[in-house]
Amino acid sequence: MPRGLNLGCRAGGAGPRLDRVEQTPGAAGPPLTPRTAVVWSVLRAELDRRPSAELTVLDVGGGTGGFAVPLAQAGHQVTVVDASPDALAALSRRAAEAGVADRVRAVQGDGDALAGLVEPDSVDLVLCHAVLEVVDEPASVVTALATALRPGGAASVLVAGRSAAVLGRAMNGHLDVAATLATDPAGTARPRDTLRRRFDAEGAAALLTAAGLTVEEIHGVRVLADLLPAAVADGQQGALVELERALAARSPWRDLAVQLHLFARRPA
Ligand SMILES: C[S@@+](CC[C@H](N)C(=O)[O-])C[C@H]1O[C@@H](n2cnc3c(N)ncnc32)[C@H](O)[C@@H]1O
Repeated sequence: MPRGLNLGCRAGGAGPRLDRVEQTPGAAGPPLTPRTAVVWSVLRAELDRRPSAELTVLDVGGGTGGFAVPLAQAGHQVTVVDASPDALAALSRRAAEAGVADRVRAVQGDGDALAGLVEPDSVDLVLCHAVLEVVDEPASVVTALATALRPGGAASVLVAGRSAAVLGRAMNGHLDVAATLATDPAGTARPRDTLRRRFDAEGAAALLTAAGLTVEEIHGVRVLADLLPAAVADGQQGALVELERALAARSPWRDLAVQLHLFARRPA
């Protein structure tokens, strides 16, 4: 039977030390970070819909298991499909150290070839975080996610936001790159850009909708976190987490976030 979440979350990317985990004082539940608190809030609400169920979870591009391992610790069965053998090796170590190796399956593979790796209609919750901006064919990956879901199953999709990238480059003095990111159809400044595309909320939602998913919620993740000096982010992390959560669903803050989190469902 699933236990309460105890979510030690991995943080990714550059910026101030935002990966340090803090527990909300006096509150039971997951440790919170500015990078992950909003996503975990949405996921926790979904898990709470079926508190005693052992869910089948698929994390596509799950990397080293920042989400997969806490979900396994909460009692769910998690399969991570990732293209990187190194990431999967780190995932397996992490799962073993957390005592949940039997609940975490690491599968090397491509996100748009899930059909051969995961049974269709078999997954309760699929995660695809920070992946659609780097794959060849995001529409194929999203279709594969939707196919893997059972009717009524849910998808948690995290993508890079275009607006924050434009602001970030401009504030660092790279006005030419900012202009390219603002006008390029895919929101990339390739070939020097590490991401192949960035999204606005409407474009990301359209991608999921085209695959037959119903988008239920969209939140901004890291509205402020990457803009703050490290001393502020580190020194007031609890307040920052609360502010991120307060701003995540509100205009215009949501659309200025470094990442956009979409929560969608396959119709039952
Ligand atoms: C930026 S990391 C994100 C990791 C994790 N989802 C997170 O949010 O912390 C992107 C991950 O996607 C994986 N990846 C990239 N392209 C992929 C593909 N076509 N199929 C499966 N995994 C892929 C990478 O190996 C990497 O682990």
